[in-house]
Amino acid sequence: MSTLLEVADAHVSYGKVEAVRSVSLTVAENEIVTIIGANGAGKTTLLSAIMGVFPLKGRVSFLGEDMARLEIEDRVARGLCLVPEHRELFATMNVEDNLQLGAFRMSKAHAARGFEHVYTLFPKLKERRKQLAGTLSGGEQQMLAMGRALMGAPKMLMLDEPSLGLAPIIVAGIFEIVAKLREEGVSVLLVEQNAKAALKVADRAYVMELGEFVLNGKASEIATDQRVAASYLGFAEAAAS
Ligand SMILES: Nc1ncnc2c1ncn2[C@@H]1O[C@H](COP(=O)(O)OP(=O)(O)OP(=O)(O)O)[C@@H](O)[C@H]1O
Ligand SMILES: [Mg+2]
Repeated sequence: MSTLLEVADAHVSYGKVEAVRSVSLTVAENEIVTIIGANGAGKTTLLSAIMGVFPLKGRVSFLGEDMARLEIEDRVARGLCLVPEHRELFATMNVEDNLQLGAFRMSKAHAARGFEHVYTLFPKLKERRKQLAGTLSGGEQQMLAMGRALMGAPKMLMLDEPSLGLAPIIVAGIFEIVAKLREEGVSVLLVEQNAKAALKVADRAYVMELGEFVLNGKASEIATDQRVAASYLGFAEAAAS
């Protein structure tokens, strides 16, 4: 498997406060990698900085190319895309128009292929294509945010808390889509507080605490780690035994 994303010794600061410290990670082609960690660990900061929203000290390369000088839209053009934590949809625009925004600067033929792909993955969005985004359910809004990102046919999708505020059954559907994306050749970097669901779908995982990665490995092994179980999976008894 070849490496798609490589982050080496990344630091991100808000003024004097270093929110991300010496973080290194890789995501390979056809891989789902998750970053789990508590509130305020620095997960959103890290994803945003990889996307180019904040300056990052260290190295980010995508498909072997150094991203340092590239603006956000150039990173998108290379195949890197972020679905932000708060989805950032245009509430007063309908589903179709929100998706169209994800096809910005694309030829009509490419956009048509994008619509077909997104509507195949999310038939609900097709049914509701004329509905205003602001009136969609939480799960539908998450689908729309993912769909908009997929319009540009990314090679890698970074998802920030896709399960936030959603009922378990909806979360399961979202995670099924994540697995399907890997089958289609899209890698996923998944940030989650819902560690249990994330570790189930992911190939590898990093555990983040106070801006640093404290543990990483195969998702199946991280899921059975005693410390992880105690802190993130809600099995207090695992720590006690
Ligand atoms: N714009 C900002 N200015 C200053 N500090 C910030 C800013 N955004 C985040 N921080 C701080 O950086 C730290 C990391 O925040 P971040 O949002 O990256 O964490 P997170 O792991 O995504 O948390 P959550 O799980 O709650 O989404 C926190 O201490 C937060 O208060
Ligand atoms: Mg966050």
